[in-house]
Amino acid sequence: GTTLGASAAEQGRYFGTAVAAYKLSDSQYVGILNREFNMVTPENEMKWDATEPSQGQFSFSSADRIVNHAQANGMRVRGHALAWHSQQPGWAQNLSGSALRQAMVNHITQVATYYRGKIYAWDVVNEAFADSGGVRRDSNLQRTGDDWIEVAFRTARAADPGAKLCYNDYNTDNWTWAKTQAVYNMVKDFKARGVPIDCVGFQSHFNSGSPYPSNYRTTLQNFAALGVDVQITELDIEGSGTTQATTYGNVVKDCLAVSRCNGITVWGIRDSDSWRSSGTPLLFDGNGNKKPAYTAVLDAL
Ligand code: XIL
Repeated sequence: GTTLGASAAEQGRYFGTAVAAYKLSDSQYVGILNREFNMVTPENEMKWDATEPSQGQFSFSSADRIVNHAQANGMRVRGHALAWHSQQPGWAQNLSGSALRQAMVNHITQVATYYRGKIYAWDVVNEAFADSGGVRRDSNLQRTGDDWIEVAFRTARAADPGAKLCYNDYNTDNWTWAKTQAVYNMVKDFKARGVPIDCVGFQSHFNSGSPYPSNYRTTLQNFAALGVDVQITELDIEGSGTTQATTYGNVVKDCLAVSRCNGITVWGIRDSDSWRSSGTPLLFDGNGNKKPAYTAVLDAL
């Protein structure tokens, strides 16, 4: 293939990017998006603060712009994210206990029902574990009770039985890290008890503090062996030039080596679209030109 999406499709995979609704009027951005990608993740538009700014009042207009653009251009959508401690509306941040639990369940039901049939995979729960390995103590959702994660998955399954349901996190790429082991044990437990989980998302924001690990393929393989798909969901890699390109290529090769690794999503199109305030972590430069990292990805696919 001559584009990321077409080449990934030849391998039975997808190649996606995070998309911001307000950039859909930028012709350079949309040109690259439509040419190269066949999966999109709304970067912020499906988060709790965006979709339920007041309790019980749902707002889907920004997310709909992305979903409509995707559907009109033959791209699928990864939904992101139903339950997360971050980017909650103020009213939810002020709730606790059963009121917060009930609000979470209602939120998942309403959003997943609204988009039923339009979402390839949902990040049902995002970032529920601490880097030290245990559950994240600073999450208000965690304080509603240890069962909040499985309740979120069961609620999502009931609302959209056709979507793959994923657990998504960062710093879960290195097989030896405590957080990786904690998430692995949760997935193993969910599979053993029949909690509906179909996939694990590896954000894979690689930088000096959290570099691409040499055992990345092992991690993907070990999770896949639990009976879930694995997806690289928010890839970006600090650096530039040949070093960055080589790492991008290795990530792609690792995914292709694991049959249940069914797709890769980068967290933005041009370096200027990155959520990182500095650096050049993406595949296109600020002018929309292909970087060495782009060529390495295309060659690896
Ligand atoms: C980031 C967005 O890219 C930013 O625009 C926003 O200000 C903050 O969130 N992990 C995730 C993503 O799961 O939702 C985050 O996205 C990046 C880290």
